[in-house]
Amino acid sequence: MSSADPARAAIRLTDVEHRYGDVTAVGPIDLTVPAGEFLVLVGASGCGKSTLLRLIAGFEEPTFGSVRAAGEPPVPGRGAGLVFQQPRLFPWRSVGGNVALALKYAGLPATPERVDELLERVGLRDVARRRTWQISGGQQQRVAIARALAVENPLLLLDEPFAALDALTRERLQEDLRRVSASSNRTCVFVTHSVDEAVFLGSRVVVLTPRPGRIALDLPIGLPRTGLAPDELRGRPEFAALRAEIGAAVRDRSSSEVSA
Ligand SMILES: Nc1ncnc2c1ncn2[C@@H]1O[C@H](COP(=O)(O)OP(=O)(O)OP(=O)(O)O)[C@@H](O)[C@H]1O
Ligand SMILES: [Mg+2]
Repeated sequence: MSSADPARAAIRLTDVEHRYGDVTAVGPIDLTVPAGEFLVLVGASGCGKSTLLRLIAGFEEPTFGSVRAAGEPPVPGRGAGLVFQQPRLFPWRSVGGNVALALKYAGLPATPERVDELLERVGLRDVARRRTWQISGGQQQRVAIARALAVENPLLLLDEPFAALDALTRERLQEDLRRVSASSNRTCVFVTHSVDEAVFLGSRVVVLTPRPGRIALDLPIGLPRTGLAPDELRGRPEFAALRAEIGAAVRDRSSSEVSA
């Protein structure tokens, strides 16, 4: 059976709990993510969002319960593209060289045309020959995103990839990612602290409780995925309503953390 089988969920967490020693970081959580969904995870600092991504990527094993990616236990480095909060690039390689290396590692042809095409998608063709330390932080993030997109992994896991960027670059990258995800059938799990970003990017938003992270709110985002400019999308009345509902759940959950 192929991983593209629509009957098989891209991600399935069943009764998942994760502990670090005596500390329960996550769960219990049940979560099914169908293929093609853009799931955004929101929650207070320390509630277990990165732990969840690591469980899905296979870097951690759950203490209890089971994690499945395309029906199988996840294998680290296989089947999922990862973008970390801090881009991890090879400084001795050019921008284009970093993308080429990702293709080579995956056993794909690293032709100049393919590298150019990927850099074009994140607006970096004009800096392809520079070293990664000769470009801005926002551009480095885009290299990391281009690298994750280079390999047609069915799953893309992004942990606050835009958190450290200025507002303008962040908006541009949000638009890039929204466009790219709408034009592919990849499943994305994206972690953010920004409610606006969650509504803008997500086809579904899950708000987690403070540690141990459990599902506080699970909301489909019924906004059109294509055909609307970012300003039009943000101007829709549903956008404001969703932002208010998710914002209230996040605030509610954060204050209960303080009082608990
Ligand atoms: N290796 C570890 N050993 C012990 N405790 C850990 C470890 N990693 C994370 N934790 C704890 O588990 C909880 C969840 O951590 P995690 O990094 O998943 O949170 P997060 O939601 O990603 O937070 P942030 O928004 O700040 O990135 C936190 O309370 C954290 O202190
Ligand atoms: Mg984190």
